[in-house]
This record gives sequence, C-alpha cells and structure tokens, in this order.
Amino acid sequence: MVTIRQNFDLSGRNTFRMKVSCACYVEYDSPKDLETIDFDSLPKPLLHMGGGSNLLFKGDFPGTVFHSLVKYIKYFDVGSDHVPVAVGAGVVWDDFVAKTCADGLWGAENLSLIPGEVGAAAVQNIGAYGVEAGDIIAGVTCFDTVDRKKVSFKTPECRYGYRDSIFKDESVKGRYIITGVLFRLSREAAPKLEYGNLKAALGKDAGEPTPQQVRDAVISIRRSKLPDPEELGSAGSFFKNPVLSGPQFAAVCQGYETVPHYVLDGGFVKVPAAWMIEQCGFKGAEVGGAAVYEKQPLVIVNATGEASPQDVIALEEKIISGVREKFGVELHPEVEHV
Ligand code: EPU
Repeated sequence: MVTIRQNFDLSGRNTFRMKVSCACYVEYDSPKDLETIDFDSLPKPLLHMGGGSNLLFKGDFPGTVFHSLVKYIKYFDVGSDHVPVAVGAGVVWDDFVAKTCADGLWGAENLSLIPGEVGAAAVQNIGAYGVEAGDIIAGVTCFDTVDRKKVSFKTPECRYGYRDSIFKDESVKGRYIITGVLFRLSREAAPKLEYGNLKAALGKDAGEPTPQQVRDAVISIRRSKLPDPEELGSAGSFFKNPVLSGPQFAAVCQGYETVPHYVLDGGFVKVPAAWMIEQCGFKGAEVGGAAVYEKQPLVIVNATGEASPQDVIALEEKIISGVREKFGVELHPEVEHV
C-alpha cells in the first residue's frame, strides 16, 4: 500500500529533531508499490530517507521524501556455516542486529545500536569497531526510478568505501531506491575485537565470546560515549575522520608527544577528528541550541531541543575553521545536508 501526504511534519522523523517539513511524504510497504507511483507528478527533488539518523535538514524540504515500510528478515540455507539473510530496507537496523546476534549468527554484532534502517545502512556503509556494513553485504536490490524496474547490485558494484558507496554518487543520487539487502552471516565464530577497548569491555567473556556477548559489550561502550537518542537529538558522528598523507600527519604531530592515529595502506594515516576538535577546545562549545557533545566531540547535539539548522551549521563552520587554523586539516561532514 502507498500512502501520500502533503506538507508533512518531519520533526519526529529526523534524529536531530529539527523542526522541518516536506512538501510531500510517501510511504510504501512493498517493493511492487514503487511500480505504481507516478514519479513525474511528485514535487522535486526526491529524497529517500531511512530513520533520518544521518541527515541535517537545512530548512523545509520542497520535494518528496520517500520512506520504506518494507520489513522482512529471511534466513536461507539454515544449517550451513554461511547463512544468507535477506532483509527489507525498512527494517530498523538494530532490530536486524539484535535478531541475528540472538540467533547466534556472526557478522553484524560490532554494528550494534547504530540508529537508522537497513536500506540507509547500505547507502551510507555504516561502520563501528572495525567493521563496516559493506563487509557483510552480499548484494543490494533496488528499484530504478529511471528505467522503472528492479535492479540488483553485487557487493563490488556497490563500491563501498569509508562511509561511501555508489548510491551516494552525484551521478545516480536519488535514482536507485534500495528495497532489500542480502547479508552474508556466519555460524562459525568470527569475533573482531581489535578495535579500541572492545576486548576490555568484554572482560571475562573475551576468550570465546558469543555474538550476543560482543553485542552487549558494544552497546555498553556506545551508551557510555554517545548520546541516548531518546534524550538528546543528534545525527551520530557529525564529521568523517580525516585521512592524512605522511607530511600532513607530521605537521599535525608538531608539539605533541603522541597523536592517536590508525595507519592505512599507502602511507596514509587516519586521525580521529574527535581528538582534533578536543585540542581546539571545542568540547561543550555552543551556538544557539546546538552543542559539541562533551563525551564524544565528533557529535553535535541539539542540546536544548530547540536548535535550528542554522545553529548546527554555524557550529559546524566554527569547528571546521578552528581545526583548519590549528592543524591545517579540512574536516568534512559525515552527515548529509539536505
Ligand atoms: N577521542 C578524543 N577525545 C574524545 C573522544 C575521542 O580525543 O573525547 C579520540 C581518542 O583518541 C579515541 C578516538 O578519538 O581513541 C576514537 O574515538 P572513538 O573510538 O569513539 O571513534 P571515532 O573515530 O570518534 C568512529 C565512528 C563512529 C563509531 C566509532 C567506533 C566515524 C565518523 N565515526 O568514531 O561512528 O561508532 O568510530 O567504531 O568514523 C557514526 O558514524 O555516527 C559513529 C558514531
């Protein structure tokens, strides 16, 4: 079934809790429904939205927002080590992770408690604790709004990178509506515990943990660092962690005994933006109702519940120019500005 609403209030549909609306809002509960929609007649631009957890609306949206209510989780080949799991794009990401961990399947546990929905996770290539969605995705099914037919993408065709995929490419943006994602999970133990303090958080369970135990540890770390979406509006990490060349990294290190970093291929180094923002003295900085979250300065929060998009953008600009001045490094938002 397709539901179309005009002048729809999006305040409850974006985790930043910006008080904005869209000209038209379309929800559908089956991929087949998309074939019946007359896209030409809808206000433009078209935007497909998951849980609204990685978006900053800069104001009221003049176009049409689509939201999927396609919800299914289907296991195949139950009994073998590798378990393909087909999931509808409208399933809440953490419902999928919770179910597969409870069923003893490995693969998604490090990605516990990330807000949003499955379709958006496959666009954004969400990641945490050393794992990215693209690592466990075997394929993506879409509706092509131009050719008006179902199309499938195998994992290499999705071109997954750090918080990036083909679906974010300007040339096809908005063209493909993800309707379902195929994951490849495993019954064989495959814990990935190398990131940060994950092993420490597992404590006595770090020996031969179950997916559920890893999930519980990830949840406890996230709860201690990141704002509770029920209490405080935010869009998670606001900036990407910058990737620096050797000389750029050397410049950042000047005057510091140690600088946290991860070495990547090709001599590149990823430096936590949270560290740079903290060094600039921006922890707790405020503009209007927006603030830099004290416990994790990579996150901008709607501290008063009344922050406007302009407050958030002014704080974002202040952070970008502060980091540029101090370190000569350009930060880029991870959150999509709409
Ligand atoms: N740090 C500080 N000060 C702080 C907090 C952190 O200096 O107050 C430094 C520390 O050196 C720490 C490092 O930042 O070791 C990294 O912090 P953390 O492990 O929390 O991760 P992050 O790099 O800040 C990334 C993701 C998060 C993800 C975590 C864990 C991005 C943009 N963000 O953050 O993803 O949960 O790693 O894997 O890559 C999200 O995308 O919304 C998100 C929350």
